Amino acid sequence: MTKHIDTQTLRDWLEADRPVTVLDIRTDDDREQWSIPGSVHVNAFDALRSGRPGALAHLALPSDRPVVTVCNAGRVSQTAADLLATRGLDARSLDGGMKAWSLAWNAAEVRLADDSARVIQIRRTGKGCLSYIVGSSGEAAVIDPSVSPDVYLEMAQRHGWTIRYVLDTHVHADHLSRARELARRTGAAILLPPQGRVRFPFTPMADGEEIRVGDATLKAVHTPGHTNESTSYVLNDAAVFTGDTVFTNGVGRPDLNADGEAARTRAHSLFKSLQRLRQFPSEMVVLPAHASEPVAFDGQPVAASIGDVDRWLANWLASESTFVDRVTSNLPPTPPSFVQIVDLNEAGEFPATDPTELEAGANRCAVR
Ligand SMILES: [Fe+2]
Repeated sequence: MTKHIDTQTLRDWLEADRPVTVLDIRTDDDREQWSIPGSVHVNAFDALRSGRPGALAHLALPSDRPVVTVCNAGRVSQTAADLLATRGLDARSLDGGMKAWSLAWNAAEVRLADDSARVIQIRRTGKGCLSYIVGSSGEAAVIDPSVSPDVYLEMAQRHGWTIRYVLDTHVHADHLSRARELARRTGAAILLPPQGRVRFPFTPMADGEEIRVGDATLKAVHTPGHTNESTSYVLNDAAVFTGDTVFTNGVGRPDLNADGEAARTRAHSLFKSLQRLRQFPSEMVVLPAHASEPVAFDGQPVAASIGDVDRWLANWLASESTFVDRVTSNLPPTPPSFVQIVDLNEAGEFPATDPTELEAGANRCAVR
């Protein structure tokens, strides 16, 4: 009888730093795409699927802790768990495999110089999607929600915050926005950059507009390029939520839903937006919407200062034409299912079916 573990339990174990060996048995190609932080990899998928158990025979694993076997969909990992169990190990198969793991998340508090607000980064670890809850004096705003509304609701409740605003930095292409659902569940206002893309009511946050969250201020700064509407939100001159405009080690690709000349036009906009962000104080904290790899359960926010970013960005921005060439050539493949995801995000619909079907795989919103 195969033992199982669900993604929520594994998430809790990793967050609590409980000893566990996570054994990833997928192919090298699948592993390359994305993985669970800290997992051990043995390419045993094809062998186990075709009934050759020898693939795990020589694997030495610590016997003082559970082993969680992981594959793509949670089937071949059962074979692996059964084999390890015959060796006396406490082996469990991860239900739903990496597809289900796509929704696993962890959190890290961002330390800011300004103490009028607290910022918690909520990371969808597999895809590297980063969202934020900003809390101050009993109120909160959520930026770029990418996991279940329950996560933000529970976090707000724990801190005694009422969620007043839900914001997206742009129409996302790599994950389904949870903004509408979260706004519906909380009665919060939904704030988006002014644009004609989405087909549902929202409150526009134009360049320079501000909202108050408790004692804190969030101000919109239009930073087009990754998409035309892309907007960053500045918190009290202490932090800037940059969406997919700039990451800690790369910039947002300008070519999604745009080809050829349109992508080059966006790249020119991106150049100007990045110049604008560079003018912010060098100690301001940059909080992007993506990490470049799966996010560890380490409580460390994925963040950089404007000064850190400028150390590599200055070089990128030395020449506008070189920059435009750089961000419009040699791009990674477009994110899987991005056309359907953009379409659902513009309609403001959430699929009735399993969202991980559409959202599977790593995100590919960056140029590095
Ligand atoms: Fe994006």
